Amino acid sequence: MAYDSATNSLEAHWMPFTDNRGFKSDPRLVVRAEGVHLYDHHGSQIIDGSSGLFCSPAGHCHPKIIEAVHAQMKDYTYVMPFQSGHPASFTLAEKIARLTPEPMNHVFFVNSGSEAVDTALKIIMAYHHARGDMRTRFVSRERAYHGVNIGGVSLSGMVKNRDIFHATIPGVVMMRHTWDPDELFIPGGHSDHRGVELANDLERICATYGPGTIAAVFVEPVAGSTGTLPPPKGYLQRLREICDQHGILLVFDEVITGFGRLGTNFAAQRYGVEPDIITMAKALTNGSIPMGAVAVRDEIYDTVIGSSPRGLTEFFHGYTYSGHPAACAAGIAMMDILEEEQLIPRAADLAPYFEKALFDGLKDHALVKDIRVAGLMASVEVFPKGGPGILGTELQKQMFWNGLSVKFTGDNAVLAPQFIAAHHHIDEIVEKFRQTLDQQLG
Ligand SMILES: Cc1ncc(COP(=O)(O)O)c(C=O)c1O
Repeated sequence: MAYDSATNSLEAHWMPFTDNRGFKSDPRLVVRAEGVHLYDHHGSQIIDGSSGLFCSPAGHCHPKIIEAVHAQMKDYTYVMPFQSGHPASFTLAEKIARLTPEPMNHVFFVNSGSEAVDTALKIIMAYHHARGDMRTRFVSRERAYHGVNIGGVSLSGMVKNRDIFHATIPGVVMMRHTWDPDELFIPGGHSDHRGVELANDLERICATYGPGTIAAVFVEPVAGSTGTLPPPKGYLQRLREICDQHGILLVFDEVITGFGRLGTNFAAQRYGVEPDIITMAKALTNGSIPMGAVAVRDEIYDTVIGSSPRGLTEFFHGYTYSGHPAACAAGIAMMDILEEEQLIPRAADLAPYFEKALFDGLKDHALVKDIRVAGLMASVEVFPKGGPGILGTELQKQMFWNGLSVKFTGDNAVLAPQFIAAHHHIDEIVEKFRQTLDQQLG
């Protein structure tokens, strides 16, 4: 056994977003991982139904990434990123820029999705300031998740993530979320209804606050952490139109959807809507080393860079670990793997099978309230029992012991198979999911 309860109570580690007391009385430790599988501290095999946290589409412990990081660490392990640099960050930035829509050719490195969101907020402030345009408001959306730093919490539309954290940035206005209780189990995920009407919330916000006060709109193209809310048809297109009309920047937070989760490089290509800024993280390094990034349109970069005299720093922002060598090596290897193994087309091919398996296997279950799918991300929402999130938390634990790792947020199971998954892996995920629901019914 890899963990000894006699010598470690587990109390020293305060775990993130975890029921610490529950976990420590019933620990679920992963001690090894390979491909689509995890292995717990009793030696049992678990299929990964969520790619970690949407992190590892190429499979766990990909040898190419391990080798690349190892080789990098032999050459240099750290380089100061301010007024100094190393080749790998430039290589990786160029590879990312090849995947983003044109003209989006500049990439700022950070260490997580949360930092990407806070960095995007600061880039937007710097951009409008450089243009002498004093826009101070940000628009976000109910049920949004943009990470846990104060900027992201300020944009958050999830009550538990913000209610006690009062020191948020002022001037954030919320659009309505896009989930419609009258439209459940929509095949293809995208409702035909209300896309334009919901996006017109932005028009109403402009009418109330003045369009010239709004700096940017942040949206996850498919809201992920509140349970896969695909955009209704026409929604993102209409947001783009309104932003264009009023000089408002449009940010797609693609921390989950970036690097192929919807079967295209980014959701921007999937929906044919080009934002001004894309935030990304997670799959960028296949989850192997923490890293995030912010990609911006050329005009944003040129404006901020051109705003100060030559010889001076243009943007007073950056992290000690921005573009860390290990993360860059992992990121470069991952970009190569996406290409060599054709992982994004594989995700696109697998998506219809995944959706059908979920609908065929779970739609009729008495505990299932809704299923929503976009590409290789999906939520199976269960009816709450005893209060919001109680059943979801319980199911997540039971699924683990039944050999399935799935992330629940509240009563939404968030499924996100790896792009390397075969059909039989999808079947196994659905079977173990159903088996656990059946156990609940007794
Ligand atoms: C859309 C979105 N933005 C930001 C984040 C925060 O990323 P991180 O946990 O890496 O800080 C997440 C994490 O799930 C996310 O889904």
